[in-house]
Amino acid sequence: MAGILPSLLAADFANLYDEIMKVQEAGYLHFDIMDGRYVPNISFGPDILRALRPHSRQVFDTHLMIVEPERYIELFAEAGADVITFHYEATTHPHRVVHQVKEAGCKVGIALNPSTPLNVLEYLLEDLDQVLVMTVNPGFGGQRFIPAMVNKISELRRIIEDRGLATQIQIDGGVNLDNLAELHTLGVDLFVLGSAVFGADNPGEVVRKAREILKKDK
Ligand code: DX5
Ligand code: ZN
Repeated sequence: MAGILPSLLAADFANLYDEIMKVQEAGYLHFDIMDGRYVPNISFGPDILRALRPHSRQVFDTHLMIVEPERYIELFAEAGADVITFHYEATTHPHRVVHQVKEAGCKVGIALNPSTPLNVLEYLLEDLDQVLVMTVNPGFGGQRFIPAMVNKISELRRIIEDRGLATQIQIDGGVNLDNLAELHTLGVDLFVLGSAVFGADNPGEVVRKAREILKKDK
């Protein structure tokens, strides 16, 4: 079954422990790491993963929005990341970084900004556990889904099927209970939800509803 990944970026930073307890049922947590260089915003670093790791068995899905991600892979792996996704645009040697993540013992993903074409993955796709199609420009939560990304997601699904791969498609940005069912039909496996989950009065309820939608529409 496809998965819902609550993004901590939208959580109450003063109560992170309580916040993650509300969304245990998701089975995943998405960590948005921003350095103020690759994206205009600064969020948090590996110490947050390290602090939460003993309290959660959720999959720690780490989205690095930082320049030269190769400098920090081992640090995030050691802090408790299960999956590390870095931006294709943020490093000169994406192929090398893919294998660096694997050697650090994590699953690996590559993220593509909305304007980055899929063909940059031509010689990388076979090595990836997941591809993150950014459906907003990275840097901030609460933005609107970019409609042109619908075709990009469909095209990626077709390429993955044609090559007979098990690579998962993740999308991130502007996903909510209203557009989830439609996006699921495109063949997305992993949905990141930030403000839709933690901006709600009852985050656990949103996760439950979202998982219901994914169960229904296949
Ligand atoms: C954006 C981040 C997202 C963000 C999504 O740069 O990568 O993970 O938290 O937030 P929403 O779901 O509010 O668009
Ligand atoms: Zn993210």
